[in-house]
Amino acid sequence: MARLLLRGFDIRKAWLDGPAQERLIDSLRPILKSAPLFRPVTPSGKEMSVRMTSAGSLGWVTDKTGYRYQAQHPKGAVWPAIPDQILGIWRDLASADRDPDCCLINYYGEGARMGLHQDKDEADFSWPVLSISLGDDALFRIGNQTRGGKTESIWLNSGDVVIMGGPARLTYHGVDRIRFGSSKLLPKGGRINLTLRVAG
Ligand code: SIN
Ligand code: MN
Repeated sequence: MARLLLRGFDIRKAWLDGPAQERLIDSLRPILKSAPLFRPVTPSGKEMSVRMTSAGSLGWVTDKTGYRYQAQHPKGAVWPAIPDQILGIWRDLASADRDPDCCLINYYGEGARMGLHQDKDEADFSWPVLSISLGDDALFRIGNQTRGGKTESIWLNSGDVVIMGGPARLTYHGVDRIRFGSSKLLPKGGRINLTLRVAG
């Protein structure tokens, strides 16, 4: 369980062992049934390559109206609760005082990526964002607090957890690519990234 600090991002390599990753995936199955993945569209009308859904009292969505948190899945149902195992990771690494109200679930299939962006739709940036990687390896790029400038990249593997907080809370980050098929965790391959956020 190595710990790396990269531009203020606190990276816990192999924080979750194999059995913990399996349990986590099992806990996501009923969530993906009741709140199916959807393909988000950016406010400018571009389809994103990741598919997403959420758990918690709020979920992050994007469509032509804009980026926002809302209490319902685009199809209308309230989001399922965040599983206890996931809340436990947040309490251990982010805060024992307040639970996240959103667990964003991003699924990266073959060829999916995520451009450099800041997480800035939350009301209070003093809370960190905690990210959990499951499944295929991802090349994660970290930039600066404003757009542009030099960047650094690191491969995130299944079981890694990253805490983006403090001065790094508004640092640009993204995923250039995944190594599709590099992990056996997900039966159909691909990568799931969970981000836990205090949104409201
Ligand atoms: C995100 O920034 O929302 C996702 C990061 C990741 O997939 O590792
Ligand atoms: Mn992000």
